[in-house]
Amino acid sequence: MEYIILNNGIAMPKLGFGTISQFGEQIIDNVCYALNNGYQLIDTANRYGNEEEVGIGIKKSGVNRETIFLETKLGPTLYENDQAIDDTLNRLNVEYIDLMLLHHPVNNYIYAYKMLEKAYKEGKLKAIGISNFPVEKIQEILDNCEIVPAVMQVECHPYYPAETVRDFLIRHQIALQAWYPLGHGNSDMLNDPVFVNLGKKYHKSTVQIILRWHTQMGFGLVPGSTSFQHIKDNADIFDFTLTHDEMEEIAELNKHKPFYNVTKESLERLATTKCNFEE
Ligand SMILES: NC(=O)c1ccc[n+]([C@@H]2O[C@H](COP(=O)([O-])OP(=O)(O)OC[C@H]3O[C@@H](n4cnc5c(N)ncnc54)[C@H](OP(=O)(O)O)[C@@H]3O)[C@@H](O)[C@H]2O)c1
Repeated sequence: MEYIILNNGIAMPKLGFGTISQFGEQIIDNVCYALNNGYQLIDTANRYGNEEEVGIGIKKSGVNRETIFLETKLGPTLYENDQAIDDTLNRLNVEYIDLMLLHHPVNNYIYAYKMLEKAYKEGKLKAIGISNFPVEKIQEILDNCEIVPAVMQVECHPYYPAETVRDFLIRHQIALQAWYPLGHGNSDMLNDPVFVNLGKKYHKSTVQIILRWHTQMGFGLVPGSTSFQHIKDNADIFDFTLTHDEMEEIAELNKHKPFYNVTKESLERLATTKCNFEE
């Protein structure tokens, strides 16, 4: 495993397992399998509606809690709910969370970030951060809050390497963690001839080439998968290194366009859709 040292000194594993859209026995088994097959970081969210099962999967894995990096996100409908972080700890059935993010830059995110800061100071959260924030809203957090976010989770992959926020994050020592690291399985990207050729050279799949690119860019990443084989293969990426010229070749694939389009309607939906445990 490779690690990113966060701006508060904590080591965050670069590779994590993403748990969106998986529920029940499936996510219990996949979390358990991932933790026993090369992963140390699990990423969930209030909004995924699976925190209880993620917690069960962690216990079932038999892996020592101290060696697991557990990450979750506060849902926007809970941004003014002072009980929400304690409720999250209870759902996950853990004493502390390694990293908690604000899921989206909607509703009262300044108040919510201050809730994260309070829980951080109380030791309930080991690091805090944000997700999907544009530069001007990150600046608002920096201007109004005490603690610089440790991590920003954002859509990022070779076809859209998060260039609108990357330099800003580097300047403020905020680690970039990629969601949709495989473009949500986009087949054009997974079959791009550049990755096919590199796969042949390194005896790796195109997916493994893409995941390795992320780590060499210095990004964290949370690929998701419903397949044991894929989960295992996706962790087998640390035994080869893409050359400088190969990284440059991949940089040229940038299409400057995300797969997930943020619109006024989508932001409104994100601001109002409740988590499955809310009334
Ligand atoms: N902060 C946010 O707003 C936000 C938004 C979206 C997602 N996320 C996070 O990002 C994580 C990843 O997102 P995602 O799962 O939608 O996208 P992704 O990781 O980019 O792609 C997942 C897709 O890739 C396929 N895949 C994975 N490994 C493969 C392999 N070795 N070979 C071939 N296909 C493979 C999966 O299919 P199989 O199931 O068949 O393997 C699935 O269709 C989520 O779980 C969540 O934790 C965060």
